[in-house]
Amino acid sequence: MRGLKRFFPAYRLRLAVQEDAEALLRVHQRAILTLGRRVYNEAQLRSWATGNTSERYVKAIRDEGEVFEVAEARRAGIVAFCSRKDGEVRGLYVDPDWARHGIGSLLLNRAEAAIRAAGHDRVSIGASLVGLPFYEARGYTVLRHRHWKTRGGLFIPAAEMEKTVGRAFPRKAVHSPP
Ligand SMILES: CC(C)(COP(=O)(O)OP(=O)(O)OC[C@H]1O[C@@H](n2cnc3c(N)ncnc32)[C@H](O)[C@@H]1OP(=O)(O)O)[C@@H](O)C(=O)NCCC(=O)NCCS
Repeated sequence: MRGLKRFFPAYRLRLAVQEDAEALLRVHQRAILTLGRRVYNEAQLRSWATGNTSERYVKAIRDEGEVFEVAEARRAGIVAFCSRKDGEVRGLYVDPDWARHGIGSLLLNRAEAAIRAAGHDRVSIGASLVGLPFYEARGYTVLRHRHWKTRGGLFIPAAEMEKTVGRAFPRKAVHSPP
């Protein structure tokens, strides 16, 4: 089943619009409250998930230049998203029912390609400890561990991570060939 889903994905990729805000919020909350359970305790999860609103996505898309790419399934609607701004991946969340089918990797690859094409040579991510092993497996290294203040007020352990992706258009060599 997993193999088939990889080869015949039942979803399509597209950029999000403001009208997707409710669906983005739903995926975000479900990913935190279900997948986050592997690492964080109940109080930490509640604090991470609390206070998030669909207006936040509207504002991010409309006013802040954050680009959201989503995976949208025929019946289930939006099942994952990855957002980016400048050289940063701001969020990557996959609905638990769709986890471990390669969607997170696909969206991350595409975000990295877009960031590189925009002229950045590295991608930075503020990663939860849920995402950390996933990002490590994709070539990211931990710059520093830190505690991240969640909307609910609790600090949860997290990490700043980075990956070098190289320049899409390398600078010209400064020396001339002999
Ligand atoms: C982290 C996350 C985005 C991964 O998405 P995904 O679609 O399940 O990931 P993929 O299916 O592309 O994973 C591919 C591979 O990455 C690795 N991987 C994925 N999740 C992993 C995890 N939690 N721990 C270790 N390795 C992991 C595995 O090697 C996996 O391959 P396998 O399934 O054949 O073993 C998803 O689990 C998620 O939404 N987590 C909660 C939110 C979060 O913490 N997001 C990151 C913070 S911004």
